[in-house]
Amino acid sequence: MAQRALTGVKPTGEPHLGNWLGAIQPALDLARSYDTFYFIADYHALTSVHAGDDMRRYVRSITATYLAFGLDPEKSVFYRQSDVPEIFELSWILSCFTPKGFMNRAHAYKDAVSKNLAAGKDADDGIGMGLFGYPVLMAADILMFNADVVPVGADQKQHVEFARDIAERFNGNYGEAVFHLPEPRISSTVKTVIGLDGRKMSKSYDNTIPLFLEEKALLKRINQIVTNSQSPEEPKDPDQSHVFSLHQLLLDANAEKEARKQYQAGGMGWGMAKKMFFESLNEKLRGPRSEYNRLIADPNHLDRILEKGKERARSIATPFLDRIRLLTGIR
Ligand code: TRP
Repeated sequence: MAQRALTGVKPTGEPHLGNWLGAIQPALDLARSYDTFYFIADYHALTSVHAGDDMRRYVRSITATYLAFGLDPEKSVFYRQSDVPEIFELSWILSCFTPKGFMNRAHAYKDAVSKNLAAGKDADDGIGMGLFGYPVLMAADILMFNADVVPVGADQKQHVEFARDIAERFNGNYGEAVFHLPEPRISSTVKTVIGLDGRKMSKSYDNTIPLFLEEKALLKRINQIVTNSQSPEEPKDPDQSHVFSLHQLLLDANAEKEARKQYQAGGMGWGMAKKMFFESLNEKLRGPRSEYNRLIADPNHLDRILEKGKERARSIATPFLDRIRLLTGIR
């Protein structure tokens, strides 16, 4: 039997280039060699998205994005976290095997605390229990489906290690290998995608390139990439350019070499360099964009896909949770 890979994505905004190249595409590529589980982590997003209409819009948009980039819902199990109530019951069960000290040491929580302290505020100012307990819910996501491999960004590695540790505690207590021990998979080939200003592309820096802008708006956004003041005639160092740093992500080895030469030869202004990047990107996005627009215009179709995913996910989760209830003596 093939090993299982599982990953979740939080619906917290409109999808951008960094999401696609850094997370969505590497996750979808795993469908070639694993049984794959992809889900929309809406209850994780609820730690920060507190407007109902935003949540609904982001869930649809992430769902359509995965499908537009080729997720095959027949081949992979594709569901919305909130559609599988077994996950939340498991989350409570796991929390009873999770030392509170773990949660204190979780990166996301610790960062929030240090920000508060640096600002002279109370350590826990504005920190909800959702953020604090986040890693337990994530462990339930992973252990519910006995994932072997969990592809995540480097910032999520610790969470997968928590899941592993919690699984070991539970297994050890009941003397049964109930849960597989998951491994984090940090893709080494994926480079960090920088944003318009050269920092990591992130919604919170407002430096993203949204994926499904119409062509004109896309070019306009690309024209906002920060460049230096070199004139068109001057030779340019591709490795010092944000435009090239983004463009190269889309190029194969030969095309990258060619583009480097063009930069180094001089005679190419930044407007031209941006146009070249736009053309490569637009070419790649044309198909997914029209598919995305088609899907977004048909919410019933999206709902039907999620409904099917829910049935498949629950057909695994329900009997597994029954087993866990028996084992714990809840039944
Ligand atoms: N915490 C992940 C993120 O912020 C999203 C997520 C939730 C997830 N549950 C998961 C990822 C389970 C992998 C497995 O990106």
